[in-house]
Amino acid sequence: MTAPTLPASDSVAQQTAAHILREGGLVGMPTETVYGLAGNAAEADTVAKLYAAKGRPRFNPLIAHVTGLEMAQTLAEFSPLATKLAQEFWPGPLTLVLPKLPNAPICDLANAGLDTIALRAPRHDAARALLKTFGGPLVAPSANKSGAVSPTTAAHVLEGLGDQIDLVLDGGACPVGLESAVVAVEGDRATLLRPGGLDRATIEAITGPLAAPGQTDTPSSPGMLKSHYAPGAAIRLNADTAGTGELLLGFGDMECDLNLSPTGDLAEAATRLFAALRELDARGPDTIGIAPIPQTGLGEAINDRLQRAAAPRD
Ligand code: TXA
Ligand code: MG
Repeated sequence: MTAPTLPASDSVAQQTAAHILREGGLVGMPTETVYGLAGNAAEADTVAKLYAAKGRPRFNPLIAHVTGLEMAQTLAEFSPLATKLAQEFWPGPLTLVLPKLPNAPICDLANAGLDTIALRAPRHDAARALLKTFGGPLVAPSANKSGAVSPTTAAHVLEGLGDQIDLVLDGGACPVGLESAVVAVEGDRATLLRPGGLDRATIEAITGPLAAPGQTDTPSSPGMLKSHYAPGAAIRLNADTAGTGELLLGFGDMECDLNLSPTGDLAEAATRLFAALRELDARGPDTIGIAPIPQTGLGEAINDRLQRAAAPRD
């Protein structure tokens, strides 16, 4: 059976969603980045069900979504730098990985038993309303099968997970279109674990140069599996023209089958990326060729997703 969909801005729908979550159910929730699959972060049974629905390995920890700094401080230890980042960029597309407080009301499975926890206060009105009505932290990985392309519409959520979840709140297309940037903060040191919908330069204005994961003793993100975001077709990067059996996803002024942004606007390309991959894939090509994307601003996160989509699948 496919899960029902309700309008995300409707207050009765919000009450229904919060009720389902209190009963241990799973709800597709719009955020400004991508749709999340929300569940009660405190309940191990719910979180186990969530991992199973996504087919996600249990060593890959989840992000706990919060209303803001106040709720976050009940879960993690905030250094002055972490506090500054939260004040500057929350609500918004930034996830902070911080030392978990020993008594945090989060089940061990939610953060894969690590001594750190990932936290994010989403900016989307529907996500904020749901967190407020529910009244506690919600884990919410992207609402897709593990390894598949992330969902930016309610229809995408239903396509991948419709028979595994209880409700989808439909908030239309996600405005940012790429997942949050994930930054680990240890004292005054910040490491970029995943580039995302808040670009490097904006974060570095607060942190100074971000460290890269794997440098010395910096933490790594267990979720950074190489192959991810993979459509059915093979992916060929830096394509200028379409080859045989190939559809071309363009960027900037060029001939192609679908264009991420004819004017070369990286924010527009980010918003459209995942829906475009799905749309071309549905036409059944052998390969999707993708035009070069500049590595500046949001281009870093777009290229990160494209490299994973193109990576060997096993
Ligand atoms: O924009 C987003 O972040 C979306 C929306 C729904 O909020 N969520 C999302 O969740 O992308 P997910 O589960 O697909 O990605 C979470 C990432 C993974 O790469 C995971 O490994 C990493 O965050 N992560 C979570 N907890 C961590 C921790 N304690 N230490 C290091 N990495 C962590
Ligand atoms: Mg994901």
